[in-house]
Amino acid sequence: MTQYMVWRPAYSVGSASIDNQHKQIIQIINDLHEAMGEGDESAALRPLVERLLAYTDMHFEFEEQVMEECGYPDLEYHRHQHDELRHRTEDLQRYLGLVTGPDLFYFLREWWLDHIQEVDRRYSAYLKAAVLP
Ligand SMILES: [Fe+2]
Ligand SMILES: [Fe+2]
Repeated sequence: MTQYMVWRPAYSVGSASIDNQHKQIIQIINDLHEAMGEGDESAALRPLVERLLAYTDMHFEFEEQVMEECGYPDLEYHRHQHDELRHRTEDLQRYLGLVTGPDLFYFLREWWLDHIQEVDRRYSAYLKAAVLP
């Protein structure tokens, strides 16, 4: 089955740990997308949205801690972006029955691809000096 989202080497931020977390998030969104196609929508989707939310939280905390340790100068902006997505993902969870599949997936895919390629990429140069696999 064709994957809805595919992680590409071009998305790498220069850290295997963070790249793996991004791959996990993409995988959860793919699982959500697959569940959506199987009918019985909100019953199947709810645990996956919860998983996405929990994983997103863990990933943001991890990234923010790494940026802090690296002395990344634009941490506040980055943190703000994370907070915004966290709130929007919480809204998705809260209003899951009201959102339509295409909206949900378009939003998730666009936001994550944009964030990984634009916003996360900016800390890349700072990570290289830090001790991170
Ligand atoms: Fe990230
Ligand atoms: Fe980020």
